[in-house]
Amino acid sequence: MHMRLVSLLAVVTALSTACSADQIPIEPAKKDLSIPPIGLGLWNSKDKDAVAWQATKAVEYAFKAGYIHLDSAAAYSNEEYVGESLSASKAPSRKTYWVTSKLWNTAHQPKLVGKALNKTLSDLSIPYLDLYLMHWPVAFLPDQAPGRSVVDQDTTILDTWRALEDLVRQNLTRHIGVSNFSPRQLDEVLKNCDICPYAHEFETHPYLQQQEFVDWHRKNNITVIAYSPLANLNPTYKDKYPKIGSILDDPFWKKLAKKKNVTVAQAVLAWGMQRGTVVIPKSVHEKRIIENLGSVNLTFSKKEMKKILAHDKRARFNDPSDGWGVKLFEGLDDGTNRFFVAQDL
Ligand SMILES: NC(=O)c1ccc[n+]([C@@H]2O[C@H](COP(=O)([O-])OP(=O)(O)OC[C@H]3O[C@@H](n4cnc5c(N)ncnc54)[C@H](OP(=O)(O)O)[C@@H]3O)[C@@H](O)[C@H]2O)c1
Ligand SMILES: *[C@@H]1O[C@H](CO)[C@@H](O)[C@H](O)[C@H]1NC(C)=O
Ligand SMILES: *[C@@H]1O[C@H](CO)[C@@H](O)[C@H](O)[C@H]1NC(C)=O
Ligand SMILES: *[C@@H]1O[C@H](CO)[C@@H](O)[C@H](O)[C@H]1NC(C)=O
Ligand SMILES: *[C@@H]1O[C@H](CO)[C@@H](O)[C@H](O)[C@H]1NC(C)=O
Ligand SMILES: *[C@@H]1O[C@H](CO)[C@@H](O)[C@H](O)[C@H]1NC(C)=O
Repeated sequence: MHMRLVSLLAVVTALSTACSADQIPIEPAKKDLSIPPIGLGLWNSKDKDAVAWQATKAVEYAFKAGYIHLDSAAAYSNEEYVGESLSASKAPSRKTYWVTSKLWNTAHQPKLVGKALNKTLSDLSIPYLDLYLMHWPVAFLPDQAPGRSVVDQDTTILDTWRALEDLVRQNLTRHIGVSNFSPRQLDEVLKNCDICPYAHEFETHPYLQQQEFVDWHRKNNITVIAYSPLANLNPTYKDKYPKIGSILDDPFWKKLAKKKNVTVAQAVLAWGMQRGTVVIPKSVHEKRIIENLGSVNLTFSKKEMKKILAHDKRARFNDPSDGWGVKLFEGLDDGTNRFFVAQDL
């Protein structure tokens, strides 16, 4: 039984310094492959002049470097370019690597869910996914003008979840999960699922640690996939909190990285893995793709983990609530809703 998350989060618990060193080496994958601790992110892996090669090359570099995990999504508009690498003659065999993709908001209506996954599989040129996520807990009406988002009030999270469960039964994806859910929204799925979420992908990094929320998932066997694991390096975040400079220039992280003889990116990613989250750094540059994977064997002491915990900024960089006219991330500790109390308490 899942302990009710909303209730649990309302309980003030001492922050643990989760230090169980889950440093899982990159091992040859098996058919029952569980999610590898680091993967390649693919959002923004394209640009107007070089759509084709950026995502294709990034995946090629990643395989060459030893990655066996890709984080894709229909909404990144580059899955066919990822697919070019997955179908190349030098590509590794399908069962040796993990692929996550995500269902976009316009395909939440149950009759659209299977079609959306098949489009993703066809673009990626693979027969099945390892993990298919509901990208956001928000349904949009399909068939709107490009760029226009209208919330579909009639399609619930559970309607969409039921359709996702069918995809597991059809062997089109090995696992299903959610992304960007609030505690209350996740609770709703957990109370009603036949096939329950394998993972929850959400924004978490040194500047938005949400350690309590992360620990809750671990206790309930739901893998946390940490998106934007390098905090504010994603260029689309640069205007959100302009006073927070690049984490690469943060004196705290520079000092720690120097002490460990690694780069700041490596230190930040190693911390993400050690606290029990899966990290999915994005880069299109071979040197950085290799550098990021170089974080896998680095560990911090309990004391270092404690210092990092104290360096949280509770800063959320990715929040489309206003643009979409919905309230996302209700009850989470990003500074806007820190004192959320469940209705049933
Ligand atoms: N589920 C969701 O709603 C959601 C939302 C956001 C992200 N995601 C997933 O999470 C992935 C990662 O998050 P993200 O792309 O937002 O941000 P990120 O991976 O934290 O940061 C990416 C940025 O950092 C740069 N970078 C990467 N490695 C570096 C290094 N070693 N040194 C210096 N700069 C480095 C990249 O530049 P270059 O590419 O130019 O090297 C890019 O601009 C995404 O790609 C996507 O797959 C999911
Ligand atoms: C998706 O593809 C699978 C395998 O080809 C097929 O069995 C299934 O009917 C398709 N689903 C839809 C909704 O088209
Ligand atoms: C899915 O795979 C399982 C195990 O290989 C098999 O028993 C089952 O018949 C498959 N289901 C479908 C719908 O293909
Ligand atoms: C999590 O998995 C462990 C090991 O399989 C199991 O003992 C435990 O009951 C599970 N916990 C929950 C909340 O499902
Ligand atoms: C620091 O790391 C560099 C690059 O990985 C390596 O060449 C060097 O020997 C390391 N220095 C120490 C003191 O470990
Ligand atoms: C990490 O350690 C393992 C086991 O010792 C080793 O095989 C691997 O090459 C190391 N990875 C990196 C990136 O240093």
